[in-house]
Amino acid sequence: MSQRTCLSIILAAGEGTRMKSAMPKVLHEIAGLPMFAHVTSAAAAAGAGDIALVVGHGADEVVKAAAVHAPSATHFLQAERKGTAHAVLAARAAIERGYDDVLVMFGDTPLLSSEAISGVRARLAEGAAVAVMGFRTDKPAGYGRLIEKDGLLTAIREEKDASPQERGIDFCNGGLMGIAGHAALVLLDAVGTNNAKGEYYLTDIVEIAARQGLRVVATEAAFENALGINNRAELAEAEGIWQARRRREMMLAGVTLIAPETVFFAYDTKIASDAIVEPNVFFGQGVSVGEGANIHAFCHLEEATVGPFCEVGPYARLRPGATLKKKAKVGNFCEIKKSEIGEGAKVPHLSYIGDAFIGAKANIGAGTITCNYDGYSKFITEVGPGAFVGSNTSLVAPIRIGRDAYIASGSVVSEDVPDDALAFGRARQTTKPGRAKELREARAAAKARAK
Ligand code: UD1
Ligand code: MG
Repeated sequence: MSQRTCLSIILAAGEGTRMKSAMPKVLHEIAGLPMFAHVTSAAAAAGAGDIALVVGHGADEVVKAAAVHAPSATHFLQAERKGTAHAVLAARAAIERGYDDVLVMFGDTPLLSSEAISGVRARLAEGAAVAVMGFRTDKPAGYGRLIEKDGLLTAIREEKDASPQERGIDFCNGGLMGIAGHAALVLLDAVGTNNAKGEYYLTDIVEIAARQGLRVVATEAAFENALGINNRAELAEAEGIWQARRRREMMLAGVTLIAPETVFFAYDTKIASDAIVEPNVFFGQGVSVGEGANIHAFCHLEEATVGPFCEVGPYARLRPGATLKKKAKVGNFCEIKKSEIGEGAKVPHLSYIGDAFIGAKANIGAGTITCNYDGYSKFITEVGPGAFVGSNTSLVAPIRIGRDAYIASGSVVSEDVPDDALAFGRARQTTKPGRAKELREARAAAKARAK
């Protein structure tokens, strides 16, 4: 089957008015990835690599997003919405290139799996002219019903065109259709608009093909493959299903999730085995976590790399460009941005570290911050390996703290500190014996006089 050439046409022209959004529907995200990109990657995983995207509403924005997530896709504009067959024919030039299999999928069904796509392709490889992914549901209203005879599909009847008896059928069109490439244009061109909506229905090709004596079959897939998103409640439902799947995959791959239902992954989160993720952790895009690392409760990570055996949190925020080397520790209420925390280095409490390189085994005291921004530009802080930065230090960048240097707590450090040096950057303490007592008495007397 893999030798067969395949074109995937993804319909993404819909307006999605029920999303109540300024953004085109297919750009709404599941696990940080626009829904159409879930579909393009499932298609790619099923070897259905040549992708034609049919755009309409918000075409420019969708094309821009496609350049990021499906750069090899070609685009076709469906300027007017006249039905699903009309939308497919917007990609006529792609179909004319000649493929063994032509697949049609909807850009708003983000949980369509590569297995379901492979299932449809397998039926085409066996000689079917049309193969439709069906699913069973006890609430079929709104879906096209699959009408079968002797194990073959004879028609798909849309809700509005169905007889009461046909409406009782619980086997529905899941929105993925495979068409033998040699028959595709002939079938699509034969579709008319003689139906309740006056649209060109893609689903009509089933009846057209069956009448011509071509072989038309249905596969059966799980409901979520067909879950079309029309509003934000359905978006959240799809997100929930996606997250549940990924949590399970993570656990089966050796990651401990103590309360899996409270951990949220992005589409590209990578976690090695024996890592532990405590409750209430959110992974934004671009995070990888090494083996044996422990992400404590209530952390937020985004575009960050956590090395093996690191400790993060509880309550830590790793922002884009945070890189923690092996066994590094970032503790509670710390924020790390665009910084490398060296092997075994520690930033245990209440720190902001931005645009910095913290050397191996350095220790950053509680409340230490990098002053990396002057309102115009960002500057770099370097802390050498083994350095000890006392609590509540302000590191005014650009600044370099040498190897094994020592910074007294409470310092504002604005000049470089050489290797092995001790730096104080604070006012000297003065202590006045008995002065507190005198002060209290004077204040109390003044208050009594005022009454
Ligand atoms: C369609 C199917 C129905 C199936 C259901 C599954 C048809 C005629 N009906 O119905 O059998 O059970 O999906 O969810 O195909 N689109 C365009 N341009 C158009 C029309 C639609 O790009 O002119 C896109 C939409 O954006 C959407 C998809 O095609 O992504 C399906 O269209 P929609 O209007 O949702 O069809 P349904 O009535 O749900
Ligand atoms: Mg729909």
